[in-house]
Amino acid sequence: MSDSLSFDVAIIGAGPGGYVAAIRCAQLGLKTALIDKRSSLGGTCLNVGCIPSKALLHTSEHFAFAKKHAAENGISLGSVELDLGTVLSKKDKVVSQLTGGVDMLVKKRGIERFTGAAVLQEDKSILVQGPDGDQRVQATSTILATGSAPVELPFLPFDGDKVVSSDEAIAFGSVPDKLVVIGAGAIGLELGSVWSRYGSDVTVVEFLPKIAAGYDDDVSRHLERSLKKQGLTVHTNAKLTGTREEKGQLIALVDKKGKELELPADKILVAVGRKPYSEGLGLGNVGLATNEKGQVETNARFETAVPGIYAIGDLIAGPMLAHKAEEEGVALAELLASKAGHVNYDVIPNVIYTEPEVAGVGLTETEAKEKGVEIAVGKFPLSANGRALATDATDGFAKIVADAKTDRILGAQIIGRNASEMIAEVVTHMEYGGSAEDLARTVHAHPTISESIKEAGLAVSNSAIHSL
Ligand code: NAI
Repeated sequence: MSDSLSFDVAIIGAGPGGYVAAIRCAQLGLKTALIDKRSSLGGTCLNVGCIPSKALLHTSEHFAFAKKHAAENGISLGSVELDLGTVLSKKDKVVSQLTGGVDMLVKKRGIERFTGAAVLQEDKSILVQGPDGDQRVQATSTILATGSAPVELPFLPFDGDKVVSSDEAIAFGSVPDKLVVIGAGAIGLELGSVWSRYGSDVTVVEFLPKIAAGYDDDVSRHLERSLKKQGLTVHTNAKLTGTREEKGQLIALVDKKGKELELPADKILVAVGRKPYSEGLGLGNVGLATNEKGQVETNARFETAVPGIYAIGDLIAGPMLAHKAEEEGVALAELLASKAGHVNYDVIPNVIYTEPEVAGVGLTETEAKEKGVEIAVGKFPLSANGRALATDATDGFAKIVADAKTDRILGAQIIGRNASEMIAEVVTHMEYGGSAEDLARTVHAHPTISESIKEAGLAVSNSAIHSL
């Protein structure tokens, strides 16, 4: 083993939490080490999560357009064929461009990289077990940013072939004839959409009474209708009870309100959530343990129970979102550099990248009511927006939830094309404590779909111009 190497900060895990923390630490003059098992930086998000799935959503959207909507737009294409090899290599190229870019940033910032599995030692040093042997890293502060892993169903373990997680479902070698998706959250709906567009017969099985459960009922219902129109089958109030094989065909057994469904499946994508990942990290060696959710507990300054050891991202409480982890990485780096790092947890947007996309921030209408807040709600349909009409993007609406007394924006939900981009405007208004009137008086370029956000702001006081 080489001699121990000393740093101000050592970060374990190079996902959006870890690598962003590393860059911020280095910017602030801290000598920083970044350790990851993968040789390619970016963690789950860049390598097998957010980015490759967005590449597949993009290519599959074009394919679906060419197949189903080109003709109605005056484009005559003849026969439209899928070349899945090119689709996958394009996705891989996007991933390598981005991870390569992060690699360059990390290098140029003088961050020292270690490739290998990190194990915390009793003396709080870190043993890195890499392909080229063991190394020991010593640091004043250690940040745990090891992320999360897909949840497995106890009676249906992943086999990497027929029963898979998103890791495999971003890289199927051929389009499965029949794909059963368990779980109608972001992963199930996004990857279900991708393979449906490429020709799979996709059935989504969701335990709860609605899909996209974090959103208000009107949003979930709208999304379910849109996905069904695109050809996906959706069973809510349904749970997988097991599987059986019949003449080599896997069959998913589903209980839907007491009724037994048998769904033939070439692949089953299990997308029932993710769990914090700390396997092999040696938490016990330093006296740390995980709670019943598998999380490492921290205080508001990301300090664990052990002085000098911090944790961020999917490993700790809060939504498992790349941008939440990034903000925590930045805030913690600033705290370690004696600055005032801070994350505003009330204003973390959430997106599902289906067609239409859904995006939300702050309180839903339901949550606000449950909290007993008196609210005023403004809603505007995209069917009344000129740009949406001109670009076949009328499927959806924007909704603003404001405090009825103060008019302060408490939350927003948007279902529609590019909702992921449009939500940023409401996030900004909320960050500055803006009111629905502020949103409504902000000049929006015409014609843009974002005018529907302004109109929803106007609708809070019943003064929308383009709807009744
Ligand atoms: P999720 O927690 O978002 O959704 C899982 C769904 O599965 C829930 O609706 C749940 O009710 C359902 N479910 C659970 N057990 C079930 C069972 N036995 N049978 C049927 N349904 C069952 O989890 P998902 O989609 O796996 O995503 C994991 C994490 O990754 C989430 O925190 C998500 O926010 C994040 N993520 C975010 C993305 C984005 O921001 N666009 C994209 C992908 C993931």
